[in-house]
Amino acid sequence: MFPEISITKTTSPRKKPEVGQPLPFGRNFTDHMFVMDYVRGQGWINPRIVPYAPISIEPAAMVFHYGQAVFEGLKAYKCDDGSINLFRPNCNYERMNDSNDRLVIPQVDVDFCVHATKMLVDLDKDWIPSGKGESLYIRPFVIATDPFLGVRASDTYTFFILLSPSGAYYAHGIQPVKIYVEDKYVRAVRGGTGFTKCSGNYACSLIAQTTAHDLGYEQVLWLDGVEQKYIEEVGAMNIMFVIDGKLVTPMLNGSILPGITRRSCIEIAKSLGYEVEERRVSIDEIIEAGKAGKLDECFGTGTAAVVSPVGELKYEDNIIKINNGEIGKLTQKVYDTITGIQSGKVEDTFGWVTKI
Ligand code: PLP
Ligand code: COI
Repeated sequence: MFPEISITKTTSPRKKPEVGQPLPFGRNFTDHMFVMDYVRGQGWINPRIVPYAPISIEPAAMVFHYGQAVFEGLKAYKCDDGSINLFRPNCNYERMNDSNDRLVIPQVDVDFCVHATKMLVDLDKDWIPSGKGESLYIRPFVIATDPFLGVRASDTYTFFILLSPSGAYYAHGIQPVKIYVEDKYVRAVRGGTGFTKCSGNYACSLIAQTTAHDLGYEQVLWLDGVEQKYIEEVGAMNIMFVIDGKLVTPMLNGSILPGITRRSCIEIAKSLGYEVEERRVSIDEIIEAGKAGKLDECFGTGTAAVVSPVGELKYEDNIIKINNGEIGKLTQKVYDTITGIQSGKVEDTFGWVTKI
């Protein structure tokens, strides 16, 4: 039995995005949010669903000073028969616990968090958009709340789940993105926090992303923090290459995020009969494969970005165009399969979907 979740319904419903209008990613929020508190000695307490509203928090709260914060991202989809699908929600809360461990934040109960997510999504189900490429983006996160300026792990935390009806992460949908390979800054180092979804990982990535944007590139591809030689991942996605007909992707090494979409795409590619290699992939190998005409496809994978074809990579003075800037055969197959399973249009032979 789970602890009871109290529900306070809103008395002033928020304005829903207009159907038929472009729906941006992550800008609109639903009527309610889930909240629970942690107090050392008492555990996670007071789970509640309340109206979405500004929160009150002390300016001395430790999250503002030392960045003790982690988050997750998953989605709910409305199916044609009116039912609602969540995609592998347990994986997100299991990964949140890995992030929590590294950031010395207490563990959450995975099954309870999935249950809370289902309750919240069910309450705000009228907000789930059903246009092409649209879904309800779910953002669980935890922040440290002790009002204290000394550096140590907080004794109190707040956990939230927000819901955001969202369209494609990239404004141009499934059109191939242009990616800038970062050769100055690094995102993660051996022994660091690269494998977690801690907020600080994203804060320190902004400088490179801003420079890339100024140069006309949408995302940054990070290289390893030791030799700046091996490919790690993109700002908000894992990365995959099709070389000589094989799917090749950087192996999980502690400094990249173990993406749930990554794991799922690997399983889909294997089920389609593709050979998959998870290994170290150097940027030189990719540039050479590109020049030799052996780099057939490249795509990013992520919850927000789904499966996103990459049409161009820039590394130092090299500009590699991939598949004439068009979506590749395997990229399209993987995209169709994963989005089909998520939205209930393709049979879920993997057992990934949780119905609400
Ligand atoms: N890498 C980074 C840095 C991310 O922020 C994300 C998004 O969550 C991913 C990879 C992809 O992970 P997932 O497929 O679990 O969303
Ligand atoms: C996600 O894909 O869920 C992410 O968290 C990526 C991002 C929006 C930071």
